[in-house]
Amino acid sequence: MRLTKLLFTLGALTWAFSFSFAQKVTIPVTTKNLALVLQAEKKGEQLKIIHLGAALNNPSEYEISGTVYTLQAEGASSNTNAFAVAGINNNFTEPAMAVVHADGNNSVDLRYENHVVSASSDGATLHQITLKDPAYPFFVDLFFKTWKENDVIEQWSVIRHSEKGAVTLNKYASANLYFFNRDYYLTSYNGSWAREMQPAQTQLRQGMHTIQSRLGTRENLHTSPNFMLSLDAPATENSGTVMIGQIAWNGNFSIQFETDVYKNLHLVAGINPYQSAYNLKPGVDFETPRFIYTLSFEGTGKGSRNLQNWMRQNNLLDGEGSRLTLLNNWEATYFNFNQEELVSLFKGANALGVDMFLLDDGWFANKYPRDHDRAGLGDWEANQKKLPDGIPYLVKEAGKQGIKFGIWIEPEMVNPKSVLYEKHPDWVIREENRPEIYFRNQLVLDLTNPEVQNFVYGIVDNLFTENPELAFIKWDCNAPIFNGHSKYLEKNNLPQSHLYVEYTRGFEKVLKRIREKYPTVPMMLCSGGGGRTDFSLFRYFTEFWLSDNTDPLERVFIQWNFSYYYPAITMCNHVTNWSNKPLKYRIDVASMGKLGFDIKVGELNDKDLNFCKSAVANYNQFKDIVWHGDLFRLVSPYDDDFASLLFVNPGKTEGVMFNYLTNWRYLPETTIRPVRLQGLDPDKKYRIAEINLYENQRSPVDATRVYTGDFLMKVGINPNVNLSRPSVVLKIEAE
Ligand code: DGJ
Repeated sequence: MRLTKLLFTLGALTWAFSFSFAQKVTIPVTTKNLALVLQAEKKGEQLKIIHLGAALNNPSEYEISGTVYTLQAEGASSNTNAFAVAGINNNFTEPAMAVVHADGNNSVDLRYENHVVSASSDGATLHQITLKDPAYPFFVDLFFKTWKENDVIEQWSVIRHSEKGAVTLNKYASANLYFFNRDYYLTSYNGSWAREMQPAQTQLRQGMHTIQSRLGTRENLHTSPNFMLSLDAPATENSGTVMIGQIAWNGNFSIQFETDVYKNLHLVAGINPYQSAYNLKPGVDFETPRFIYTLSFEGTGKGSRNLQNWMRQNNLLDGEGSRLTLLNNWEATYFNFNQEELVSLFKGANALGVDMFLLDDGWFANKYPRDHDRAGLGDWEANQKKLPDGIPYLVKEAGKQGIKFGIWIEPEMVNPKSVLYEKHPDWVIREENRPEIYFRNQLVLDLTNPEVQNFVYGIVDNLFTENPELAFIKWDCNAPIFNGHSKYLEKNNLPQSHLYVEYTRGFEKVLKRIREKYPTVPMMLCSGGGGRTDFSLFRYFTEFWLSDNTDPLERVFIQWNFSYYYPAITMCNHVTNWSNKPLKYRIDVASMGKLGFDIKVGELNDKDLNFCKSAVANYNQFKDIVWHGDLFRLVSPYDDDFASLLFVNPGKTEGVMFNYLTNWRYLPETTIRPVRLQGLDPDKKYRIAEINLYENQRSPVDATRVYTGDFLMKVGINPNVNLSRPSVVLKIEAE
């Protein structure tokens, strides 16, 4: 009897032991509302994605979340691999990783090794999951950095090995994901100069859909690295499940969406492997860029606020700080100016009440003066004819007008007609045995070369050394990489296929150096319009130029689309004479971000000048709400004859609402019904007053009336946008 009992106890212990030993490894990567769950049978087995969607209330149920799906066909279980590989025959899907090992074997297998979860010093949580090839000392670390409150995940991989020689990486993705939904609607963006961020929605049904760039430098001129992926049904502003994300790589990128026969979706994102096989030496880590995304279960509005908050709080230089309003001279003068004329423009900046004057292109080069865009780029000394007293004089004169001074540079580029090109043809990316191809008459400097990195760094450093009071840099970049060949890589016996990757890394090295020495000076990212924006660059830049298209009607759409990814504090909007839309309309649209002007203020009549001054004063009153508040897109210009957007401060005590006519038709359908507000406190009482009005202009909006937040969100307010009132700005204040 005793013996039986003993045997039973032993048996039970053994079972318990083997059960816990055989227990699967389940790794929930979670934020407040979203969960990505990975699982391996045990160490040495493949790691799978078993859930990607809403976070569960009971975390112990993550372990079983994969059991409810069946992928019945032979081999199909490999579709869910956490990092799909090329070359072993049990993977049928697009690989995230393809390599040739040091011994020439071109297969890779990745098995779960271990994982570590740690708190990162910036408040995020970091998961590191190590995968290993069972046949080689070859490792991939999958990293997931989770921002709980923002519902944002940053995902990337680090590749390393200790093989006997270099391993060739033919594909080296940052992220591999798998969705178990049924229907997928992808919003991606094409573009070109002055037509940035043109959205298109595609239903993904079967096969592969890729968004990618092969331009090298200004990576998102034609395709944006941003996307929205609606799951199950197209998300709206306030409903539906949607992933909003980006691959944060200022270079060639690729995001692949592969829909399988189960209507599951496999996503692979990273550096574009196009012409970029990378030889990785033993003992060196290859860190891939971050794939950054949020998942919203309440539509695109919530998702975009997640990203905007995450960015301001965690990924934007001086994200919670302030910005400078400015007067720029690009469209006002183009290349035709001199010292006296600039000083007279400073007076205009002072009259408007903006903080700074920004001197644009055309101020430099002597042997080949920069009087047009065909010469001088690369020769960064002030043009003596236009500016005999140099930049220091201008900084001083601006100071006398009570304004700061900023300057434009395009340091990565060169005109063949320049002293720089004559002296250093080896610094230029070009194929010696082929005709040169120009984009805006320029070529790209070879930032893989440390000497070129020093040169580019030196342009910024010299400007600050000569002008310690310099307040702002606008950093332009117009040409993509054509004929990609690096003399530096050639001389150092490095493969040309490293060019695209090392260019981007070289650029980042320069930016890091600049920020070490000049940590706070605001810098605008510009790229012949808005051809270069991604989260990786906002660690160095405070703001960006969205487009050279400053027609305010076009800007309503361009700003609308960028706003899903970037907060208004980053968006530089200038009032120009590009279009004949009313001055008020132009100012109202530009006020929905970081306000600037690019006009000759002296040419304004008194009425318009006074209007501008009062609009700048109003802007100074509400800019904090726009820069740091929550954005609610109330009426889409894609659905209606007008657009309506509201910014609300975090305390819900103040808001500013922008309304723009977008369709100049007879009796547009703009005033038929009110616009329902969002983001207010239902129990608070608010007054609404129209601002940015010309002197003596009457508003139909009754500023004495008091509304509850409840009323404004359920019934709404009518901004009365019509042909004679094409833009309306309303200031909302709690009592
Ligand atoms: C392109 C930029 O987008 C413009 O704002 C202006 O700076 C020009 N370059 C100058 O050449």
